Amino acid sequence: MKPIMIASCCTLSALLIACQPSAEQQVTADSMDEQTAVQPQVEAVSAAAEDTKLDSSLIAADREKLTLYKSPTCGCCQGWADNVQTSFAIQSESTEDMAAVKERFGVPAPMQSCHTSVSESGYVFEGHIPARVIEAFMANPPEGAKGLAVPGMPIGSPGMEVGDQFTPFTVYLLTDTGSTPYEQINSKSDL
Ligand code: CU
Ligand code: CU
Repeated sequence: MKPIMIASCCTLSALLIACQPSAEQQVTADSMDEQTAVQPQVEAVSAAAEDTKLDSSLIAADREKLTLYKSPTCGCCQGWADNVQTSFAIQSESTEDMAAVKERFGVPAPMQSCHTSVSESGYVFEGHIPARVIEAFMANPPEGAKGLAVPGMPIGSPGMEVGDQFTPFTVYLLTDTGSTPYEQINSKSDL
């Protein structure tokens, strides 16, 4: 079987908070009949733009921060970061020594994938885990849980998109004693 190479260059764009343009910022000249009406309208538009800025900063502050350890040349790792960045504030840490990272955070060999991310609360999220599953875990972490893992790099998982292809995969719960199945992802609609 031919190995699948994902060629993609890493960019900093994933780290930038997406700025949502506001439709309210569009001013139509024909809605202004008199010159006197212009000034209040412009002020109203500026206020709406201000609100939009405030809203996005609130969303950004709300997102849990994940530190992402990955090799600087890993395209699928960046793909995963791009995929989950609407749910988490991803801070990337590039390293050539991913083995040391797995060792440091206690990810057992059978559970390992390309990248490792760690929450501020100390939970470990190994590999291409869907953001939804991480959010559910964070909302209600099982007793004794260390984190979650998707071993290997299943085709069709977040960051591992190859056309319409999809390989079902299991998200495992990492515990002090090893790992146990946490959630089965059988199709794209489960992502
Ligand atoms: Cu990967
Ligand atoms: Cu990766």
